[in-house]
Amino acid sequence: MNTASFVLHGDLCDSRDPQHLRGIPGGFLVCVDGRCAGAFPVLPDRYAGLPLIDCAGKLVIPGLTDLHVHAPQYAFRGLGMDLELLDWLNVRTFPEESRYADLTYARQTYQSFADDLRRSATTRCCVFATVHREAAELLMDLLEDTGLVALVGKVNMDRDCPDALREDTGASLAETRRWLADVSGRYERISPILTPRFVPSCTDALLDGLGELAAETGLPVQSHLSENRGEVELVAGLCPQARFYGDVYDRYGLFGSNGRAVMAHCVLSSEEETALMKERGTFVAHCPQSNANLSSGIAPVRRYLDEGLNVGLGSDIAGGSSLSILRAMADAVQVSKLRWRLQDQSLKPLTAAEAFYLGTAGGGAFFGPVGRFEPGYEMDAVVLDDARLSAPFPLTVEERVERAIYLSDDRDIVKKFVRGRCVL
Ligand code: GUN
Ligand code: FE
Repeated sequence: MNTASFVLHGDLCDSRDPQHLRGIPGGFLVCVDGRCAGAFPVLPDRYAGLPLIDCAGKLVIPGLTDLHVHAPQYAFRGLGMDLELLDWLNVRTFPEESRYADLTYARQTYQSFADDLRRSATTRCCVFATVHREAAELLMDLLEDTGLVALVGKVNMDRDCPDALREDTGASLAETRRWLADVSGRYERISPILTPRFVPSCTDALLDGLGELAAETGLPVQSHLSENRGEVELVAGLCPQARFYGDVYDRYGLFGSNGRAVMAHCVLSSEEETALMKERGTFVAHCPQSNANLSSGIAPVRRYLDEGLNVGLGSDIAGGSSLSILRAMADAVQVSKLRWRLQDQSLKPLTAAEAFYLGTAGGGAFFGPVGRFEPGYEMDAVVLDDARLSAPFPLTVEERVERAIYLSDDRDIVKKFVRGRCVL
C-alpha cells in the first residue's frame, strides 16, 4: 500500500495532448495515496492540510518512460557504432550478452545500469535482460531497489545466435516458466514481460509456446519490429507465409491480442503492419538515436501519431548511446526534420510539444494511467532545477520545458517521485 500524500509546489508542466504543453506557473500538484488529485494554479482548501514540498521556481514534469532499453548492453554503449544491425548484433551484442552467465559480471554491470537509471528522469521502463534466468532475476532485484517501476524480460532465443546464447526450444520455455514462478509476488514495482528477442532469433515453435504463455497469463510482450532493411528481408525469407513482419508475432498472439505489446523501432512498417498495430493497440517504441547510430533509418512517427497509434520513446541502449529520454525527445524532433527534408515532404516534423508527449503520456500509457498530471494518474514526477539554463529575458514555463528538452541533463534533477514515493 502506498500512502504518500503531499502537495508539490513549483512550475508545473505536462502534456494536455500531443499538440499542447500545459504550463502552470507557481502551481500545486496534489498527490493523495500515490495518485494525482490534480494540478492547480491555486491550492484548493481541501488539500491545505497536506504536507507541502516547496520547489518554487523549479520545473515539475511527469516522470519519463523509456519503452525500450537493453540493460546488458549498458556496458558497451558508445562503442561499435560503425556497424549496421545484424553485424552489430553478431560482432558486439551477442558476445557481450554471453557474459551474463557469470553472475559476478552481471551484478557489477547491472548495478551501474540501475544506479544511472535511478539518477535519470526516467520513472518507468521496459527492459530486456539476456537469456540467462538467474541474471534476469538479479536485474529485477536491483531495479526494485531503485524505486522505479519496470517491466523486465528474460530474453528468449533459440536460433541464429552463438551457442552460448542459444536455448533449446523446450528449455527456453521451461526456463521462462521457472523464471515467472520465481519472481511471482517477489516485487512491489517490478514485473515480468515476455521477451521473444525478434523473429530471426525465435523459431515458430518458440513463438507458439510464448504465445500460449501470453494467452495463459495475460502478460505483456516486448520485441523488435521492422527496424532495418536486412532484418526485414531476413524475416520475409524465414516466414514466407507471413503477410508482413508483425504478422508473425500476431499469428502467435504476441502482437497485442492477449495483452499489451510494445514493438521497438517500426522504421519500415508497411501500411498493413501499421493498420494491424492500430487494431491491436500495439505500442511503438520510437528509438531515434539507435536508428541513427545503426543507420537503420527514421521511423514515420508523424504518420503513427496521425493514425492514432500508441507511441512512446525508447533509449534502446546500446543501439542508442544515451539513457536520457530528454535526449530522446530532442533526437526525435531532429531526425523527424531530416526525414521531412530528405525523405518525405508529406510528413511534417515533430514539435517539441509532441516529443514531450511521447516521452511522458505517450509511453506512460503502456503502464496504465501514467505520464500526466490528471486526477487518478499515478504520481510520477521529476523536479528539474533549470536555473543553470537561465535566459536574460523572461520565459514561460512551456518555453523552459522546451529548453530543458535540449539542454537539461541528470545534474539538474533535484527530486523524483514514483507512485508518490520520493526515490531521489
Ligand atoms: N534486434 C534484435 N536484437 C536487438 C538489439 O539488441 N538491439 C536492437 N537495436 N535491435 C535488435
Ligand atoms: Fe532493442
